[in-house]
Amino acid sequence: MSGPAQAAVEQPDSFAFDGEHGRAAERAIACYPEGRLASAVLPLLDLAQRQHGGWVPRAAIEHIAGRLGMAKIRVMEVATFYTMINLAPVGTFHLQVCGTTPCMIRGAGEVFRAIRDEVGIGPGETSDDGQFTCTEVECLGACVNAPMVQVNDDFVEDLTYENFAAVLRALKNGDDLPAGSQAGRRSSEPEGGALTLLDVPPPMRFDPAAVYGDPLAAAAEAPAAADGRPPALDGPRGGKADALARLKGLGPKIESALHGIGVYHFDQIAAWTPGERQWVNDALKLGGRIERDDWIAQAAALAAAGAGEGGA
Ligand code: FES
Repeated sequence: MSGPAQAAVEQPDSFAFDGEHGRAAERAIACYPEGRLASAVLPLLDLAQRQHGGWVPRAAIEHIAGRLGMAKIRVMEVATFYTMINLAPVGTFHLQVCGTTPCMIRGAGEVFRAIRDEVGIGPGETSDDGQFTCTEVECLGACVNAPMVQVNDDFVEDLTYENFAAVLRALKNGDDLPAGSQAGRRSSEPEGGALTLLDVPPPMRFDPAAVYGDPLAAAAEAPAAADGRPPALDGPRGGKADALARLKGLGPKIESALHGIGVYHFDQIAAWTPGERQWVNDALKLGGRIERDDWIAQAAALAAAGAGEGGA
């Protein structure tokens, strides 16, 4: 295994932009006046990387320095500062995992665990078959959909261990990357679905259990209606849980909390009695979203449509 951070040992003797990339490079350079051409260094590094199969060889650094009238070390300083520039070959799929605070709090560790389990690599490593490289990066600006990973040019968001493992399996099978939110929400809409000015959202308050990932403890402490607790399963039937986060108002964290109380399938939710709904609402501090988003009808429809047992 190798990492992309260090310059490759094997380097080509020379580099020059080809026709298509050369024209794009000239367009980038033309954006800046004489004496300020160094401003084009990042676009040229990116073009060199795309032309050269995902990494920038030393010869390209020298070529760009000459074209922009920069010292080679200045170009190298830029290339080594930005994690998006690779100085050694990377896998077909470059997994750039955000490890900055919002993504870390929301479960970046689970994303790394999924990569380790599915692909067998950690940060700075490339799989032996050359398919995957894993790199830990700083904030990629998609914190509201944390945790997230950039796979080549696309973002994959709202990740859990389970859904990112599924993404990796899809890539290994040659399927297209399912870019975007893996929790079914559009863009950066709130997890509970879009609101209007006429909706009154539940009051916001700091909830350490929610922030520090301890909703299961909250569930364990919710004894009030022990007889209202819905029937629990020891694990998902057939080893595969339904994608509960497809329900409007149910995000990855709540999905994980439901697993913690033995709920894995749409038909379980569809069968909740009013008392059981109240128990789940109180135990997981859902603020009434079961009723507001009508999970029962949603779950019944998905179960009837055959979306259960992990189906689409
Ligand atoms: S912290 Fe991960 S995208 Fe911002």
